[in-house]
Amino acid sequence: MNRLLKTIGLTMVITFSSQLSIASDMPDGAKIFSQKCKMCHALDKKKIGTAVKAMNSDAEQLRSAITSGVKRMPKFGHKLSAEEIDSLVIYIQAQKTDI
Ligand code: HEC
Repeated sequence: MNRLLKTIGLTMVITFSSQLSIASDMPDGAKIFSQKCKMCHALDKKKIGTAVKAMNSDAEQLRSAITSGVKRMPKFGHKLSAEEIDSLVIYIQAQKTDI
C-alpha cells in the first residue's frame, strides 16, 4: 500500500515537472530576435531593415515576412520552427504597443 502511494506520488511529480519543462521550453522571442534579427532591425530606427516599431502588426503578415523573407531580408522558414516564429511575432507586437 505504502509503495503504491509512493509510486502514485512519484508519477504525479514526474508528470507535473514534465509539464513545467514544456512551459519553460517556449521559445524566447527576445532572445531569438537578438541572435537572428538585431543585426538588421533596430527597435526605433531603420537599419538595413524596417525599425521594429514601424513594422506592421498583423500576425499573418509578420509570420509570412519571417518565413519567406522580404526584399533583401533572407527567409527564415527553414531555420526557425513554427513556435520560434510565433514567439518572434509576439515579441514584435509587444514592442509596438508602447508607441
Ligand atoms: C540581412 C538583414 C536582415 C535580417 C537578418 C532580418 N531582416 Fe527583416 N528585413 C530586412 C529588410 C531589408 C527588410 C525589408 C525592408 C524594406 O522594405 O525596406 C525586412 C523586412 C522585415 C519585415 C517586414 C516589415 C514590415 O513592414 O512589416 C519583418 C516583419 C521583418 N523583416 C522581421 C525580421 C525578423 C523577425 C528577423 C529575424 C528572424 C529579420 N527580419 C531578420 C532585413 C533583414
